[in-house]
Amino acid sequence: MSIDNKKLVVPSILAADLMRLGEQINAVKEAGADWIHVDVMDGHYVPNISLGIPEVMAIKTIDPPPMDIHLMIDNPDDFVEVFIEAGAPFVKLVTVQIESTKLLHSTIQKIKSKGVMAGVAINPTTPISSLEEVLGLVDLILVMTVEPGFAGQKFIESMLEKITKLRKIIDKLDSKPLIEVDGGIKLDNISKIAKCGPDVFVSGSGIFGTSDYTKTVLQMRKLISS
Ligand code: DX5
Ligand code: ZN
Repeated sequence: MSIDNKKLVVPSILAADLMRLGEQINAVKEAGADWIHVDVMDGHYVPNISLGIPEVMAIKTIDPPPMDIHLMIDNPDDFVEVFIEAGAPFVKLVTVQIESTKLLHSTIQKIKSKGVMAGVAINPTTPISSLEEVLGLVDLILVMTVEPGFAGQKFIESMLEKITKLRKIIDKLDSKPLIEVDGGIKLDNISKIAKCGPDVFVSGSGIFGTSDYTKTVLQMRKLISS
């Protein structure tokens, strides 16, 4: 699976000014964001509570970029359809964490049956080997490059090797899920991350923490392709 070999830049709205969420989403849309990344946290799977169903319902009213919904929650099996419905027709991708999904096969099927891309995320210490039975089923693998829970954390350097290894494994497959990276990605490290071969780059504070989103997204694209 690939999206015309295009590398995608995806702002994570967890790092946006939530008092002006609509405005901020419009600003990154104008800046050329390919999707927007929506982090959902439940205070159980991760020690934080973030965006949820009401926010996704509100976002869909402003004709947003395609939504990339990242579920960092316990029992995501019970919620994938609710989120797809809440954001329809703008939900492009729903990603569940491999560590918290009990019925992974049926959850992936549930997502796909709604015409939405299915992603599986792995935490920094979850080995690539745990994906063996999953790679042929999903549209995207999300490699967490920080521990899930908060925006603004530092990129974990050892993830460079992990992304490179995963790239090599996926390149040998017939059906190739996209590789997405998420956590601590900014202008100063996106170039070395890009060299490891991911397809989708999520960035929260690396975009919303800058003053000119258009300039930042453009610079990121240049650094990714150079
Ligand atoms: C972390 C989230 C990330 C986060 C990224 O739990 O999954 O999507 O919002 O934010 P930055 O880019 O600031 O690390
Ligand atoms: Zn995320």
